[in-house]
Amino acid sequence: MKFNELEIKIKELKKKRQAIILAHNYQLPEVQDVADFRGDSLELSRIAAKTDAKVIVFCGVHFMAETASILCPDKKVIMPDINAGCPMANMITAADLKKLKAEHPGAIAVGYVNTSAQVKAELDVCCTSTNAVAVVNAFKTAKEIIFVPDKYLANFVSKQTARKLISWNGYCPTHVKILPEDIKREKRFHPEAKVMVHPECLPQVVDLADVVLSTGKMCKFAAETEAKELIVGTEVGLIYRLKQDNPKKEFYPASERAVCPNMKRTTQEKILWALEELKEEVKVADEIRQRAKLAIDKMLEIA
Ligand code: 13P
Ligand code: SF4
Repeated sequence: MKFNELEIKIKELKKKRQAIILAHNYQLPEVQDVADFRGDSLELSRIAAKTDAKVIVFCGVHFMAETASILCPDKKVIMPDINAGCPMANMITAADLKKLKAEHPGAIAVGYVNTSAQVKAELDVCCTSTNAVAVVNAFKTAKEIIFVPDKYLANFVSKQTARKLISWNGYCPTHVKILPEDIKREKRFHPEAKVMVHPECLPQVVDLADVVLSTGKMCKFAAETEAKELIVGTEVGLIYRLKQDNPKKEFYPASERAVCPNMKRTTQEKILWALEELKEEVKVADEIRQRAKLAIDKMLEIA
């Protein structure tokens, strides 16, 4: 691979700062190109938890950097653009969750990792799109299960586990842009293609898919399937990695409109500035961190 001047500077400074760069699968190609690791929410938190680096440059959205900070309090976690938030995570507050729990005493509170640290501190257990079904299945004897904030992920998990879940009215504004018509159109254009979609998609979209997977599992499925063509029902940024990993296969975005503006805020320039100034730091206060960590540890223990 040929590196440009900016990439060379990032590499040098990264070494000097003893930093690693983690990038979510939806990041811009230029960001993925300078990352040490790219992956889904679960893979990135696992890497953050075991790295020896002193500094973690998190190229993703705020809750992901917070998760890294919760898991590694002794490391400096920095975001190249601190304003990269997740609108779905912002759809529920800790006060909302406390109220919901009070309405359902004794219920197990399961929360998607796409939540703030304050919300995680109120959860019994966290989950990601990779392990949500396994996490809910781990509480077979629970009388009631709360599942926040994504109502579409809750719907998918409820169907897979045959359990009624108490859900919240949250959703991902990017994934709901993918419509059933988009899948039907792409299937007409590419009749041989397999359809993989993210569980954050609308239920009518999920119903049309061959497989419903997290972004990390989509990468694995794409590499292992016999299919030579795949229709991809998630944020368009994943296509870059899919094509790089599988140069002989064709990938078609279900909808070009499925773009997460927050995931696109990070650029190579911002990564370089972040490494120069070691800013902006994401640090979760200890009292919240310890409680939030229990929910993340519980997830890692189950899945
Ligand atoms: P995963 O990469 O964990 O599937 O999550 C998708 C997503 O929307 C992250 O914000
Ligand atoms: Fe949040 Fe959706 Fe963007 Fe993921 S793709 S960060 S869930 S808004």
